[in-house]
Amino acid sequence: MIEREQDAPGSKGQFSRLLRDIAVAAKIVDRDVRKAGLVDLFGETGEINVQDEEQKKLDLLAHEEFVRALRRGGEVCLIGSEEHAEAIPLLFDDCQGKYVVLFDPLDGSSNIDVNVSIGTIFSIYRVPDDHVGRVTMESALQCGRKQVAAGYVVYGSSTILVYTTGNGVNGFTLDPSIGEFLLSHANIRTPNRGRIYSINEGNYNSWDDGLKRYIKWMQQEDPDDPDRPYTTRYIGSFVADFHRNLMKGGVYIYPSNTRDPNGKLRLMYEANPMAFIVEQAGGRAETGSGPILDVEPQALHDRTPVYIGSPSMVEDAIAFLSGER
Ligand code: AHG
Ligand code: MN
Ligand code: MN
Ligand code: MN
Repeated sequence: MIEREQDAPGSKGQFSRLLRDIAVAAKIVDRDVRKAGLVDLFGETGEINVQDEEQKKLDLLAHEEFVRALRRGGEVCLIGSEEHAEAIPLLFDDCQGKYVVLFDPLDGSSNIDVNVSIGTIFSIYRVPDDHVGRVTMESALQCGRKQVAAGYVVYGSSTILVYTTGNGVNGFTLDPSIGEFLLSHANIRTPNRGRIYSINEGNYNSWDDGLKRYIKWMQQEDPDDPDRPYTTRYIGSFVADFHRNLMKGGVYIYPSNTRDPNGKLRLMYEANPMAFIVEQAGGRAETGSGPILDVEPQALHDRTPVYIGSPSMVEDAIAFLSGER
């Protein structure tokens, strides 16, 4: 079980309790997802969220469930969520919690109403020493290298929780009959190469030339390379596309484009936690001009281009982008 697997860096039990709180929230969201079509949980809230997206009922419910679990737990003093414009301080006066948690409560919103895999992504930081007792939104603006843990949940054909504390990556499958996450994927390593690429090809006309050439190269046959042409898989839930590629080998790309110079994915809720996990599993995560984990955030809802997955496939992508190939 989770408590036994994680190896908390200097935690005194607080960190274990934090992970347990996250696992409890994930089980509650899992329960809601499984019956969403029966209890009026499909569809929109009618609000536009801070990302300028139509908020779904499950986006909001998942946000509320995670905030509730973290508030009750008492280990966290600041929360940032994709679904909330401002950072949310907890226990603000005495600031007992020493962690900051940033999360995408429900990833893959467009798939909620059509029974396709969705997920949750989370990222955990320590409160910087000089912020203890005076936590503000700036306390959350730390670069990805400073994460102490990161993880995700896929509510898929089964529900899996995958996370790292900087000491490898482990996956835990929810056994619904006992309501516990059990270790099912110990020490996950991603293959050096795979045959899968994941990108929204509908945006082709807005890509830069290096990216167009890279995608064309993956589509070409090569008598010296039996793996090519590669195969496209794109679910539209980053968490599910990422998990498949992590296990099978592949590259996921959400590039900058002419409409969105920083792409679509959010640095703090999506890119950083997945970058930490993929590096811990032997993979790579790049913006196109450097590692994602080295990006200094300017604001809570910053976006970044993402090239993530098997290390030699990300290397290929960077070589095409830079014009080296
Ligand atoms: P979210 O549902 O949390 O807003 O995230 C959606 C993201 C990500 O999950 C997915 O890979 C990507 O948006 C899909 O975007 P496109 O529809 O533009 O391809
Ligand atoms: Mn969204
Ligand atoms: Mn998302
Ligand atoms: Mn989301």
